[in-house]
Amino acid sequence: MEKITMISVVFLLLVLFFSSSKASIEYNVLKLGAKSNGKTDSTKAFLQAWTSACNSDYSATIHVPRGRYLLNNIVFNGQDCKNYEITFQIEGTLVAPSDYNIIGKSQDWIKFKDVNGVKIYGGTLDGRGTGLWTCKLASKGCPHGATSLKIGNSKNVVIQGLSSVNSQKFHIVIHESENVYLQGMTITASGNSPNTDGIHVEASKGVTITEADIGTGDDCISIGPGTKNLWIEHINCGPGHGISIGSLGKVFNENGVQNVTVKTVAFTGTQNGLRIKTWARPSKGFVRHVLFENATMINVENPVIIDQNYCPGRQNCPNQVSGVKISDVTYRGVRGSSATEFAVKFDCSSKKPCSGIILDKVHLTYGKKPARSSCASVDGSTYNEVQPSSCL
Ligand SMILES: *[C@@H]1O[C@H](CO)[C@@H](O)[C@H](O)[C@H]1NC(C)=O
Ligand SMILES: *[C@@H]1O[C@H](CO)[C@@H](O)[C@H](O)[C@H]1NC(C)=O
Repeated sequence: MEKITMISVVFLLLVLFFSSSKASIEYNVLKLGAKSNGKTDSTKAFLQAWTSACNSDYSATIHVPRGRYLLNNIVFNGQDCKNYEITFQIEGTLVAPSDYNIIGKSQDWIKFKDVNGVKIYGGTLDGRGTGLWTCKLASKGCPHGATSLKIGNSKNVVIQGLSSVNSQKFHIVIHESENVYLQGMTITASGNSPNTDGIHVEASKGVTITEADIGTGDDCISIGPGTKNLWIEHINCGPGHGISIGSLGKVFNENGVQNVTVKTVAFTGTQNGLRIKTWARPSKGFVRHVLFENATMINVENPVIIDQNYCPGRQNCPNQVSGVKISDVTYRGVRGSSATEFAVKFDCSSKKPCSGIILDKVHLTYGKKPARSSCASVDGSTYNEVQPSSCL
């Protein structure tokens, strides 16, 4: 008899354990007071959903149904979260306040900070940046503008199928984070909007960006100091300034960029294609182990470019050279058309020349005329067919 009781208790415990580990709880922002009219501030309801999800013993889904939800600056802080499985399921659009000053004076509009194990599926972010761009293009004294979505000091984050339109400044920033996976994003802003970079990654490792369509007024993807093990694949870029490692080396004590793969990217009408850019200033930064592979250029001004003499307005760096050492960079399978004669430009630091630069299967044209390449302070080699003929 006792034995049977024991067995049934164990059995009951097992059932409880498995059912609880599978249990999941949903928080619908509408039920927490959010309004889907795009006019009523729903910040509180979203924060309440987050706090409840964080305190939940079960995996939690925050559901944002169709409609438009006005959000002020909002921080989803994971510091005291005991839940490592929080999913945002977004069918609606999150909209910034119509007065750009409200979020424009802070760094970020929507921020995830110290989170671990967050997934964001779907949704659109509308930063309503057009008014601020007009202000910036016409005058000084405008607020600097907010990043639409920042992932900071976080790990194990997945963002799938999210769209971002008309951010005030950068659309997405990944900062001091680890193991972040971005897939199927669509990012749009006008081609002449200032500083509306699509995705900026810095001081982070293990970031993957795949299947994104990005067209903005600045870099489609920009890669800042301290980036390691970054994988970028299947991107359509344009309009915009291309995919850029940099600007780097603005300060002396700077972490390097290493192990970056950029694969299967189509650039259309962009200012640059594959770019590495550093300030002409002393720095102990570096760029190493970079593979650019299988890129298509359509009418791109600078398809392949290393520029180590960045010094806007010739201020703060005249007569200086970059201290950033660039090494082991491969361009393999780069084809298409250049909008300028110099389709390949390597303008490296005379103090720390670029080394290990490899061109392999490059075919770039310039209308009916031959495209050209230019080299300064660079050492490397070529494999297979390379057009324009290499100056390495
Ligand atoms: C380089 O980064 C990739 C991810 O992008 C990673 O899989 C690989 O292990 C890294 N290589 C080294 C040597 O760290
Ligand atoms: C190279 O890029 C093209 C699109 O531009 C794509 O169709 C093809 O699959 C890519 N090849 C490899 C080996 O990734």
